[in-house]
Amino acid sequence: MSKSYKIAINMGGGDAPGLNAVLEAVVRSASNRNWEVYGIKNSYEGLLDTNEIIRMTPEKVWHISSIGGTILGTTNKGNPFKMPIANAAGEIELRDVSDRVVDNFKRLRLDCLIAVGGDGSLQIAYDLFKKGIPVIGVPKTIDNDLAATIITFGFDTAVSIATEAIDRLHSTAKSHDRVMVVEVMGRHAGWIALNSGISGSADVILIPEIPFNIDKVCDHIMEGELHGQRYAIVVVAEGAAPAGGQALDKGKGEAGRQDVLLGGVAEYVAREIAKKTAKDTRFLVLGHLQRGGSPTTFDRLLSLRFGAAALRLVEEKKFGTMVALDPPNIKAIPLEEVIGGIKRVSLEGDTMRTAREIGICFGD
Ligand code: F6P
Repeated sequence: MSKSYKIAINMGGGDAPGLNAVLEAVVRSASNRNWEVYGIKNSYEGLLDTNEIIRMTPEKVWHISSIGGTILGTTNKGNPFKMPIANAAGEIELRDVSDRVVDNFKRLRLDCLIAVGGDGSLQIAYDLFKKGIPVIGVPKTIDNDLAATIITFGFDTAVSIATEAIDRLHSTAKSHDRVMVVEVMGRHAGWIALNSGISGSADVILIPEIPFNIDKVCDHIMEGELHGQRYAIVVVAEGAAPAGGQALDKGKGEAGRQDVLLGGVAEYVAREIAKKTAKDTRFLVLGHLQRGGSPTTFDRLLSLRFGAAALRLVEEKKFGTMVALDPPNIKAIPLEEVIGGIKRVSLEGDTMRTAREIGICFGD
């Protein structure tokens, strides 16, 4: 008789539309194999002090694939290898409490952990794998910057939301002859800015991969004026920076945060454009709107496929790997090949070439 598994699943880092769909697929596929699934609350925190672990059954996850966020909760501060804990003097120290995670995992007689996350959470999953926990990773990030998979779920939804926002900005920008600068997410990679900017007919797209020169941006806008286009749309990724400058990190005060927290570049770009062109300029930050709400059909399906494929990898005992999309299939990639590799926009890729050929300015 084949082994009956007791599987734990958690979600780490920022939420992304599709997380619930992964959970639904994992629980339903497990149930059909007579395996048990336990959802760990709030990333790894549920395996630490709170012991918040929930038995998941098909009834609990029925059609949650259409719902955004995650019913398990998530956090980007719960790294058990660097947990923020107050010392006797009340100062916050980062301590390694990963042994407690391993002990609780064993005490609960869990057989495997399905860790759904981005680069930070998958690094934690890999470190736990090295400490003896059988792990399968599932890649997640709206930024689409994870190496080894051609796409992550959440990205398509974020791009759709950003494109709709850009579409809406055209009419108000045109009515006022204004420059509208919209900041989208994307810390290390400009995928959301690039794909939504092209789709939404932006005039300028600024991405982390291309340090920008604000004078070139202004020249492009003023050249449009000469040809009768009196308004402009600038899409800027939060991680974009002027040549010689740095992305604006506003997250330094957050104890235990695993990653940078960027923001503010749209305001800077809008201020500079207003100063240099004397055009009426406004900015907006789309922020977490890009992560909210239902996943698109594409993201739902990809998430369901990732969840079902993760269970297959458990069955095949391919622990220490991550599911990855390699059309038309989902394949297993060793976690060590995934960790630390960021997938940036390819400057020679077809999408970039398309953008340049239709006349979009990148500030270079
Ligand atoms: O990695 C996903 C992401 O949405 C980034 O695009 C963004 O920089 C970051 O998370 C925001 O994090 P938080 O939810 O902590 O504000």
